[in-house]
Amino acid sequence: EKGGWDSFMDKEIHEDPAAVADTLRGRYDVNGDLDLDEVHISPDVFRQIDKIIVIACGTASYAGLVAKYAIEHWVRIPVEVELAHEFRYRDPILTPRTLVVAISQSGETMDTLMALRHAREQGSRVLAICNTRGSSIPRESDAVLYTHAGPEIAVASTKAFVAQIVATYLLGLYLAQVKGTMYRDEIHQMVDSLKAMPPKIQQVLDTQSETVRRTAARMLEARSFLFLGRHVGYPVALEGALKLKEIAYTFTEGFAAGELKHGPIALVEPGEPVVIIVPSSRGRDILHNKVISAIEEVKARGAYTIAVAEEGDPDVGRYADVVFWRPQCPTLLSPLVDVVPLQLFALDMAELKGLDVDKPRNLAKSVTVE
Ligand code: F6R
Repeated sequence: EKGGWDSFMDKEIHEDPAAVADTLRGRYDVNGDLDLDEVHISPDVFRQIDKIIVIACGTASYAGLVAKYAIEHWVRIPVEVELAHEFRYRDPILTPRTLVVAISQSGETMDTLMALRHAREQGSRVLAICNTRGSSIPRESDAVLYTHAGPEIAVASTKAFVAQIVATYLLGLYLAQVKGTMYRDEIHQMVDSLKAMPPKIQQVLDTQSETVRRTAARMLEARSFLFLGRHVGYPVALEGALKLKEIAYTFTEGFAAGELKHGPIALVEPGEPVVIIVPSSRGRDILHNKVISAIEEVKARGAYTIAVAEEGDPDVGRYADVVFWRPQCPTLLSPLVDVVPLQLFALDMAELKGLDVDKPRNLAKSVTVE
């Protein structure tokens, strides 16, 4: 049951920290080495893998897009992310050395199931990342790595998304370990950084909820929103945009910040709300500066700018009308915190509009038809 929360979605967003912690638990040993014996694919087989194709729909596909940045960086093999319903209709190139990763919260999404059947018919191995034990997708896959987010009842996916990111990262770090593409120390450090994420997510929930709600209350009349991000902030922008259209019925578009000048900036008129995911200002500044200039450009055209940025960012305050702050963390892990205020924002917008946040119109929790 809802256990005192106004909606399942509210409850489930507040379970983001637990979803991350529970998905990590038991998957590394005392030294910090990854232990994925449960997957029952031998290290030898993993070592042979020379390409990953992620198949998924909706929110799960955005978790896959986040994973692409991390896994390509760590493992140095190409990672393609494909919407499951497009996959088998284009004669994809699959070999026995391709690992197909099917990501699904429900495990019953027909598009994803049909895509994984196609991959297996072509002789590729399929690993399911799934939140529902015994569901069709893990049953029909060669192997499974469960997310431990607990049952997700609200139609809009929230805690499953952060758990999916963690599961793909465990897979990526494990591949790096067996292939030797990262130093053991680096792997251990990344595992430690992952372990440190639940309290950071909690901190966002504890400190940012009020600002988020106040911002939502001011935006109720907005007819559309633009979301932009770069690098791992790009899929987060797509996910924030999806949440808002799903449950608040607001027209949104999410896109890569670099695309702005290639078209979308034409949409910006005075008062247009633009949500921007800002990368860390620490370390290499290139991405940070580019995103800051994107804010500057939309601001100059009168946009109302809402930034998600790292605590201590020295530049964002100059251009953003509102900032949702995230604690410092490694760039690749920032989606785990950045998505949280966007989940809350969609929830608040829907609630303040008096909508049924758990059961938005026209949508079903699992899409069991193709
Ligand atoms: C978004 C949402 C959908 C699902 C998509 C995949 O909030 O709920 O986009 O993410 O239908 O569902 P699963 O993960 O169950 O395969």
